[in-house]
Amino acid sequence: MFPLLDQSPAAPLSESRPPLHFYGICREVKPSLEYSETKRLILRRPTQDLYKTLFRWLKDPELTKYVGGVREDDKIQLTFDHVMKSWNTAGVGKCLVIEKDTLALVGLVGIFPLDLAGTKVNDLGYLIDSPFSGKGYATEASEEIVRKGFLDHGMDQISAWPDPKNASSVRVVEKLGFQFVKELNGAYMGMSFSGMHLYKLSRSHWQTTVASHQG
Ligand SMILES: CC(C)(COP(=O)(O)OP(=O)(O)OC[C@H]1O[C@@H](n2cnc3c(N)ncnc32)[C@H](O)[C@@H]1OP(=O)(O)O)[C@@H](O)C(=O)NCCC(=O)NCCS
Repeated sequence: MFPLLDQSPAAPLSESRPPLHFYGICREVKPSLEYSETKRLILRRPTQDLYKTLFRWLKDPELTKYVGGVREDDKIQLTFDHVMKSWNTAGVGKCLVIEKDTLALVGLVGIFPLDLAGTKVNDLGYLIDSPFSGKGYATEASEEIVRKGFLDHGMDQISAWPDPKNASSVRVVEKLGFQFVKELNGAYMGMSFSGMHLYKLSRSHWQTTVASHQG
């Protein structure tokens, strides 16, 4: 079984209105800065329940191969705290990615404001659990996150910095219209990195190219 955040029965999703009491939200869930839907996915602000799934993901050698490797417990706690804190301090952050059909938690995609080698960036990050990769979920979720970043949060620019060896991750940013800027070396959350590729997408480029094609 794939992990669900809440064992209480979820009402069926309707086209017009997401369910009441969905994942512990005791009010009607409306599209907001913290909740949105795509064709196949629900994207929403995480709750404390994320911790145990994040712990499993960050202990998985395959999933973490290009993103710093398997984490020690204290680093997982640090990452979790950062994910939760960014919503309070910046009003944005990583979203749970939930498959509508199964209500399985399939990953984490979102924008994380961070200081990258001395520059403040709106960093797009994504992780899709192995059983769900190759279905276009990272792209589908990121398209919505990027759209909200530009239109709802007023961002001028969004960045991503995949490892160039991580071919599927590079492919995702390219599909989203990001453009390569430069190679990046430095440290992040106590982990050093080198040879990453910094990509950027400006709102003006997104509006004239990507958004116009998405209709
Ligand atoms: C990278 C990751 C997010 C991709 O998620 P996903 O849901 O499988 O991605 P999508 O299905 O939306 O898109 C993947 C694209 O890469 C392509 N791809 C997959 N493997 C590839 C490879 N070895 N070489 C080239 N392209 C590849 C797919 O064909 C697809 O492109 P297409 O739509 O043009 O066919 C996921 O594998 C993951 O979470 N990995 C671990 C964490 C990680 O590395 N995160 C990235 C941080 S920068």
